Amino acid sequence: MKKTFLLTIIGGVFLLAVGTFAIASVRADRVRDVPLPTFSASQDPATIARGEYLVWGPGHCAGCHGAVEQLEHYEATNERIPLTGGFEVPVPIGSFPAPNITQAKGTGIGEMSDAEIARSLRYGVGRNGQMLMPLMPFQNVSDEDLIAIISYLRTMKSVEKERPARALNPLGTMLFAFVMEPVPPEGTPPASVPRSISKEYGEYLGKNVANCYGCHTDRDLATGEFFGEPLGGGLELEHRDSIFVVPNITVGGKGSRMETWDEAGFIARVRTGKPSTPGSPMPWQPLNSMDDDDLKALWAWIESLQPVDRDTGPGLKVEGS
Ligand code: HEC
Ligand code: HEC
Repeated sequence: MKKTFLLTIIGGVFLLAVGTFAIASVRADRVRDVPLPTFSASQDPATIARGEYLVWGPGHCAGCHGAVEQLEHYEATNERIPLTGGFEVPVPIGSFPAPNITQAKGTGIGEMSDAEIARSLRYGVGRNGQMLMPLMPFQNVSDEDLIAIISYLRTMKSVEKERPARALNPLGTMLFAFVMEPVPPEGTPPASVPRSISKEYGEYLGKNVANCYGCHTDRDLATGEFFGEPLGGGLELEHRDSIFVVPNITVGGKGSRMETWDEAGFIARVRTGKPSTPGSPMPWQPLNSMDDDDLKALWAWIESLQPVDRDTGPGLKVEGS
């Protein structure tokens, strides 16, 4: 009698767990309630040129969305490759291959409306309204620059290439279902940001476009939450089976890679286009295609930050096969 009772309890708990997981699997991909920006692409050549600069320069879209089989070639040469995707940023809660963002209909973003593309960059929600893994830093890109990016994407030729489906692991399924929400912009993103050699514009580029902040500041990779000092380094990033430690790059901080650098040295270093540790995930080539004024603005921002005394050691922690 007692035994049957126990079995019923165990069976009940089991069914409850299976049921919860089934609900979580559906809930993880539910349509999220975020705004649909009313932007539309422009045909204006200056707008398209600005978008092209952002996509191949500071926005480094190809670092993730470039055709995966040509990525190493791109990293070494900066030759433009189709943005057909396939690369997976390693994260602990599932596999999230970067989608094809060429104009291909069906496999690319040709069928997404301008507003839906804007929504994915600003509100982190994909074509069907499902939450995207928050890997892109563009929430606070200005209206003007977002329109420029979309306008340029619309001029790219379409290349058909199926992307592997994304797959959440059980932890990811539970987090997407019950815990994580798409990361919203901070406040109201600016309509436009004046371009100048200023720390304000440098901060805009470094935080919202080029993502220096997102890699060089320590954070929890499962949730994206920051806990380190700005640009103080320490984040461990897996890239092609190796594990890299992102260095401290504060100016004047003891043990920082940029402890004794000046503006000219910073620009000269970027112009080499080469990682200090081969195979690193740092987008050196896109950074190298930025113009001098933008690099000066970046420098002005980095130099204005609090120096952090921290030596994060060698750039490579574990060398992959
Ligand atoms: C750090 C890697 C990374 C960078 C850099 C990056 N993306 Fe993404 N992007 C992703 C991943 C991964 C996804 C899919 C996430 C998911 O499926 O949950 C994505 C999704 C998208 C989507 C949604 C597509 C869809 O089918 O719903 C668009 C549009 C997009 N990215 C455009 C861009 C543009 C434009 C840039 C450059 C300005 C860019 N991305 C830079 C990794 C990146
Ligand atoms: C995807 C993560 C990532 C992003 C984004 C990123 N970095 Fe890095 N960065 C790294 C890693 C990893 C290293 C160490 C290996 C290397 O030198 O490539 C590094 C190294 C550096 C170094 C040290 C070079 C040396 O000679 O020791 C500087 C300076 C630097 N990054 C500046 C920047 C700036 C400025 C930005 C934004 C414009 C940026 N990084 C964006 C990951 C990143």
